Amino acid sequence: MSDIKKVYAVYVSPTGTTERAVLAAAEGTGRPYEKIDLTTYQARQGFKRSFGPDELVIAGMPVYGGRLPMKLDDFFTGLMGNDAPAVALVMYGNREYEDALIEMKVKLEGRGLKVIAGAALVGEHTFSKNIATGRPNADDLQIAKTFGQKAVKGIDKALTGTLKVNGNYPYTAPGFNPAYPRYLTKHAVIITTENCTRCGLCAENCPWGAIEIDDEVSYDPLKCMRCFRCIKYCPSNAKKILDLKFYEYKKGFEERLNAQRKEPELFFSE
Ligand SMILES: Cc1cc2nc3c(=O)[nH]c(=O)nc-3n(C[C@H](O)[C@H](O)[C@H](O)COP(=O)(O)O)c2cc1C
Repeated sequence: MSDIKKVYAVYVSPTGTTERAVLAAAEGTGRPYEKIDLTTYQARQGFKRSFGPDELVIAGMPVYGGRLPMKLDDFFTGLMGNDAPAVALVMYGNREYEDALIEMKVKLEGRGLKVIAGAALVGEHTFSKNIATGRPNADDLQIAKTFGQKAVKGIDKALTGTLKVNGNYPYTAPGFNPAYPRYLTKHAVIITTENCTRCGLCAENCPWGAIEIDDEVSYDPLKCMRCFRCIKYCPSNAKKILDLKFYEYKKGFEERLNAQRKEPELFFSE
């Protein structure tokens, strides 16, 4: 009989929706938990953590282009699983999660973790407050909590079973690649306006190490993943998208994505 003594909530969450769900799931386990927030580029530098059989890893990331965000290899290489149990959680903006959850499962297993459960949850879309507004909401978070509770409760059976999640492997979804931005992302070019005080927070908090501050604030477009973290957290409201095509395309995007409300999907090992 195995019991979980400690839970690790390990995540990347540029605009905070993934974080809220991962923490709700951790809370639901009813075990003491530690937050390992690997959102910033700096936090992932030299990151290494080893886990034991009486510990549970809850790993979460947002979905970018139907896959996990590129450039997060250091998240996975830092995890030393030693056959410890894990759950995979992905957060998506009411379009589709395609191959992201299966990718999370495959990558965690590649680090020696035994993935016993998976969840695809819905969060407000990075590009629009009008898509999945305010989600994960209280109901979504309650589902995340129950998910964590169920994962721990069924752990003995789960450890000997197999987990099937939706998605293709080999992957078919393209993911988002900043070298080939298309449609909305092509026009999501972030400008720093004269409101900027050079406080340096955007560079410090960028998940991709894409921003440098000297006399000017400069972005590396090949590193910027359009996660909008700098826009959402700038204390001077100095980050803007000036390209009007972005707003024009956004309207159609909102209509398309709001056509059907997506619900959380949970998977357990059997
Ligand atoms: C570059 C990029 C690509 C995205 N691709 C998808 C997608 O394929 N499907 C989807 O439903 N949402 C997509 N989203 C929306 C995010 O997955 C969603 O808003 C998520 O809640 C963001 O998580 P965070 O708050 O932890 O950053 C994308 C967002 C970005 C920035």
